[in-house]
Amino acid sequence: MHLEYVQLGLVTLNYRSRTLGVIHRPNCTIQEMGMQPVREDLLIGISDYIDRLFVPPDDALEQNLKDTDAAGMPAIAISPSQGRLMYILVKMTGAKRVLEIGTLGGYSTTLLARALPADGKVVTLELKPEHEVVARKNLDRAGVGGMVEIRVGKAGETLDAMIKAGEEPFDFVFIDADKIGYAGYLNQVMQLSHSGTVIVGDNLIRHGDILKATPPDEMAAGVTAYNKLIATDPRLESILLPILKDKIDGMSISRVK
Ligand SMILES: C[S@@+](CC[C@H](N)C(=O)[O-])C[C@H]1O[C@@H](n2cnc3c(N)ncnc32)[C@H](O)[C@@H]1O
Repeated sequence: MHLEYVQLGLVTLNYRSRTLGVIHRPNCTIQEMGMQPVREDLLIGISDYIDRLFVPPDDALEQNLKDTDAAGMPAIAISPSQGRLMYILVKMTGAKRVLEIGTLGGYSTTLLARALPADGKVVTLELKPEHEVVARKNLDRAGVGGMVEIRVGKAGETLDAMIKAGEEPFDFVFIDADKIGYAGYLNQVMQLSHSGTVIVGDNLIRHGDILKATPPDEMAAGVTAYNKLIATDPRLESILLPILKDKIDGMSISRVK
């Protein structure tokens, strides 16, 4: 038996509730708190260290990123260590049915599919038909194409159609598309979930933009609303993990009660 594990860069800023014995701070930026901004080279160094130590070399995924780039698509796939985390989470939950919102070139989709048993299935939603073409090729080359269905269109509309059709609930959901839509997607995903479904969301810290009293853009506003929802919705138990890349970002894990 071999162990599969991942270490994430967790940054804790002395935040704990009074009941836990430590201090709450008001919403403010690192600069406003009088702290030095985190050095970018340090973030990259730590992130690379984790990737080197915990993420096995993977020809199919490397080719995936090359082909995604060659097709002129943006380099916005999850990082290797995030992929490793999701792979392990899916295995830990014993999921058979996975829903992904935001396919791009199928990098995360490949890892989600690989974590499933042979009769598992990933349904992944993608807005752009040209992304579907690249993802399909990448998924087939990685040997998981038969387990993945790509549905093209606006995720909000696709999810509505799935709910209307009474689609079987999913065991694991990964939300990684347009940030403005996250709160709405959560509401829809809840209707496609069961007790125990795990919902992961990406890009939820945005290098501290979520600390600003007024979100600097629509994307920060979208994820700030999402964070608040998953933290307060009584149907969920959630946590937000800081993730180190070239900047600090975040990934949430929620479990439907
Ligand atoms: C961050 S990328 C996904 C990355 C992918 N999950 C990975 O890690 O490999 C976001 C994707 O969501 C798609 N997208 C954006 N808005 C969307 C929408 N309204 N409905 C469905 N997909 C959307 C984009 O075209 C893009 O391919």
